Amino acid sequence: MEEKILVLDFGGQYNQLIARRVREQHVYAEIKPYNKITPDQIKKEGYKGIIFTGGPNSVYDASSPHYDPKILELGIPILGICYGVQLMAYMAGGEICKAREGSEYGKAVLHTFDDKLFKDVPEESVCWMSHTDYVKIPPKDFLITAYTANCPCAAMCDEERNLYGVQFHPEVTHTEYGKQILHNFLFDICALKGEWRMEDFARRTIEKYKKELSGKKVLLALSGGVDSSVAAVLIGKAIGDDLTCVFVDHGLLRKNEGDFVESTFKEKFGMNIIRVNAEERFLKKLSGVTEPEKKRKIIGEEFIRVFEDEAKKLGKINVLVQGTIYPDVIESGLGDSAVIKSHHNVGGLPDVIAFDEIVEPLRELFKDEVREVGTKLGIPHELVWRQPFPGPGLAVRVIGEISRPKLDILREADAIFREEIAAAGLEKMTNQYFAVLAGIRSVGVMGDARTYGYTIALRAVTTDDFMTAEWTKLPYDVLERSSNRITNEVKGVSRVVYDITSKPPATVEWE
Ligand code: XMP
Repeated sequence: MEEKILVLDFGGQYNQLIARRVREQHVYAEIKPYNKITPDQIKKEGYKGIIFTGGPNSVYDASSPHYDPKILELGIPILGICYGVQLMAYMAGGEICKAREGSEYGKAVLHTFDDKLFKDVPEESVCWMSHTDYVKIPPKDFLITAYTANCPCAAMCDEERNLYGVQFHPEVTHTEYGKQILHNFLFDICALKGEWRMEDFARRTIEKYKKELSGKKVLLALSGGVDSSVAAVLIGKAIGDDLTCVFVDHGLLRKNEGDFVESTFKEKFGMNIIRVNAEERFLKKLSGVTEPEKKRKIIGEEFIRVFEDEAKKLGKINVLVQGTIYPDVIESGLGDSAVIKSHHNVGGLPDVIAFDEIVEPLRELFKDEVREVGTKLGIPHELVWRQPFPGPGLAVRVIGEISRPKLDILREADAIFREEIAAAGLEKMTNQYFAVLAGIRSVGVMGDARTYGYTIALRAVTTDDFMTAEWTKLPYDVLERSSNRITNEVKGVSRVVYDITSKPPATVEWE
């Protein structure tokens, strides 16, 4: 039987991160809500280890998630993290209390004793704490194996029964030896081999949906972005022609992008893809509109209308597939944050199309894992490593009113800039780079004649999460070559500038 770990979810914020850290060590991890699986089922499923996650509660709250103490008797190694260790201690008869300072949050110096879980971890290292309660008195048969200044029992174990717990978070990178600690749990304590690979995720997902979706009519909105592309290929491999991908080309894509997306899925993967050429429809709606939010709204709504029209032609749809990935799940949870820009994606689709079920095959994966799956599936590098591209496309990069000639100028300038970055081998130096057609014209001179052309702004940013970003210090010669080529090769441009604003105060896109 394939080795797997159960991540038993008690509602903590790092649960997916824990699963990801386990996968990084080549062990398959399944996350299950604590109330959706019993000790008997755990045994039957053949899990080789269990991780109790953190959670926002206190074990003494009447409503806090508890678990059947029989789980401690299954003989399967357990690692409790944060609330998980408190629950383990509580179930086994220990005592929990509130932290002295109210709560402990941030980095702390961890002192460890000699213990299997801390093999190759120095006696003193940095760990990440985020808790209010802590274990005051460990249960009988448990030893304290680590402490910090504010937490007398930062780790405990009952080596005999393979029960381990840590108050800090080994899954976050601030815990210096977190990876080693998880490694020790997986390989020394659970005695796993670590043979799982991303190919296994793809295989497992394809098999799962082959069974679940067979005979159903399935629809996916393909944008050409990494997530929807990977979701499309996975489901396409599972159910072939029962999947229809609708690719709405709004005429706001980059140079050759629409053709590339269409040919990749049609020719390389032989998939059933409908490309809707809706440029005219979009440009008509956008005519005379200059206000950025209005542009975004129009495009978002029109996108849904076009998709809806297409879906209607297909008749009854059973399943809608979406390329939601884990960070989208987190972001959509933060419902209260202010709207800086109304981001457009296919999130509005479920409201307008009648279907029975949504399937999100990538829901548990992080972006880099999605890329890895995409690569394993043979999706071209250009798509798998495609930089983020906003749903409203070039409409938010042509400042002010949009027109086909302006879009064409921008497409050419943008293609040159991207070519120059690629030629200089800088694609990995910067996380997103593109051209913008600024809404101003300026005077230039060419030959002996006066010109009065558009200004192209080049933008490149360095960022981890796109929430904040720095402008990338691109080498001058790359900027110079791009500028020379754009002004020489693209008719209608008389000036090129480089955007040296970080986010905040600017945003990445100009609109
Ligand atoms: P901003 O301009 O908000 O951009 O700093 C942050 C990141 O989000 C991308 N972006 C979008 N992505 N739909 C998307 O899917 C959108 O409407 C949208 N607007 C901006 C932007 O390209 C950058 O990567």
